[in-house]
Amino acid sequence: MTSPTAHLIPAPRSVEAPSADGLTLDAATTLWAGPGTGTTERWLRATLGAAFALTLPPGPADTPGAVRLLIDDALPAEGYRLTVHALDGVEIRGGDPAGVFWGAQTLRQLLGPHAFRRAPVTGDGPPPLPALTVEDAPRLRWRGLMLDVARHFTPKDGVLRYLDLMAAHKLNVFHFHLTDDQGWRVEIERYPELTATGSWRSRTKFGHRASPLWEEKPHGGFYTQDDIREIVAYAAERHIAVVPEIDVPGHSQAAIAAYPELGNTDVIDTASLAVWDSWGISSNVLAPTDNTLRFYEGVFEELLGLFPSEFVHIGGDECPKDQWKRSPAAQARIAELGVGDENGLQSWFVRHFDTWLAARGRRLIGWDEILEGGLAPGAAVSSWRGYAGGIAAARAGHDVVMCPEQHVYLDHRQDAGADEPVPIGYVRTLEDVYRFEPVPPQLTPEEARHVLGTQANLWTEVMENPARVDYQAFPRLAAFAEVAWSTLPEPADRDFAGFEGRMAAHYRRLDALGVGYRPPTGPTPWQRRPGVLGRPIDGTPPNR
Ligand code: ACM
Repeated sequence: MTSPTAHLIPAPRSVEAPSADGLTLDAATTLWAGPGTGTTERWLRATLGAAFALTLPPGPADTPGAVRLLIDDALPAEGYRLTVHALDGVEIRGGDPAGVFWGAQTLRQLLGPHAFRRAPVTGDGPPPLPALTVEDAPRLRWRGLMLDVARHFTPKDGVLRYLDLMAAHKLNVFHFHLTDDQGWRVEIERYPELTATGSWRSRTKFGHRASPLWEEKPHGGFYTQDDIREIVAYAAERHIAVVPEIDVPGHSQAAIAAYPELGNTDVIDTASLAVWDSWGISSNVLAPTDNTLRFYEGVFEELLGLFPSEFVHIGGDECPKDQWKRSPAAQARIAELGVGDENGLQSWFVRHFDTWLAARGRRLIGWDEILEGGLAPGAAVSSWRGYAGGIAAARAGHDVVMCPEQHVYLDHRQDAGADEPVPIGYVRTLEDVYRFEPVPPQLTPEEARHVLGTQANLWTEVMENPARVDYQAFPRLAAFAEVAWSTLPEPADRDFAGFEGRMAAHYRRLDALGVGYRPPTGPTPWQRRPGVLGRPIDGTPPNR
């Protein structure tokens, strides 16, 4: 059957299409929005108003052919039932406000690719809707995307655009990687140098770190606190939680460049450190002092005022221990705290913020290295070095977000061919991502309940502008969204050909949205980066 419902992405749980008359929305169509459905009411008017010049004026619930939005407690969290009927009109019932919103995303897909445009391209209004009932609910409650805005900055407009793209794919957690060695991107009022000095670098490595090329111009940017408030509010309107990440105690060179006393001053001249201009893992990590703890408590205090999310990400990954090994002050700290060695010091650092956040009603989440020193009960883990960290964490009773680099690092190359722009990491095709399984089969059902969900990660070392981000993210993010939302068979049994068939319609939506995806036939000439070194596939375990 070639009903338009066959083209929905992510695939819904069930669609019934009775042989009854459908409905066409037009200038006379009214909208009734029940209590708690305001976000979807505003979004529908804005989106369908732009695309089709539909105003959807308010009207009573029982107006024939009206659009009705309501909450129905009998439906699951984030679940919805969408019905289209010639007389009864369009009804979206959600288990909660988010469910109504996800139902509206499905309605938009049913309205054809022009529903994804920001102005009408025909005078015809929207195409007819078929009579149908869609019953749907997500498989996983954390359906995330991480964007690294530190290595290459994404201006605020670009962040808002990605929130829209996430919403269109029913993704609901935006992990905002705000700090790294190469840049500090969030205004902290009490520490102005973090952005005055830390938010820009004078030049940038172009390509993989082994590339001889440099882009010899300053790169930088940051979000003011009002920008952050706007981003968080924009996300909330779309039922997306924003989880900020401030990476400690590694990946901190930009902060040390801004405030040299944060570094290991007894072993390096931190006063002459600059924001890093190349890629890899910097050896410049935070000094394990009380001053550092107080400084970051100040950062997190401002952050908690900006981000209402349950989780706050503290990084915790890739913290080289060389400076701590050489630093008499760090060694004295190890002895004083009785933490044994440098790993104990890292764990002490993470535990400090675990306790600090818990005391303020928040939960710490960190990359899976944070497991190494043992964690407080409420803390959660982003499992990136594979499944193992996530499995260990779930077995120890910690919540887990599965984002193994072997599967869902979308900065990694999506084809083995020579035309891929600055290819790094594993080859992970659209089909590979479609067959990614976030919940490891080794877990018992009880342990598997700790898998909150999954997220795809976009690191931006080799993505120097928004077009490069689009290319790496799409179309694979559509496959990822289906993995996170839909109830799919085991990976080997998934109908990839069927998914590709639906993608034919989805590419038209992405075209209308202006997404610079990788075409199925390979990169366009202007998507290539001839002569810019990536990381060759040479048989060693790929990494960035
Ligand atoms: C990471 O990729 N270093 C979390």
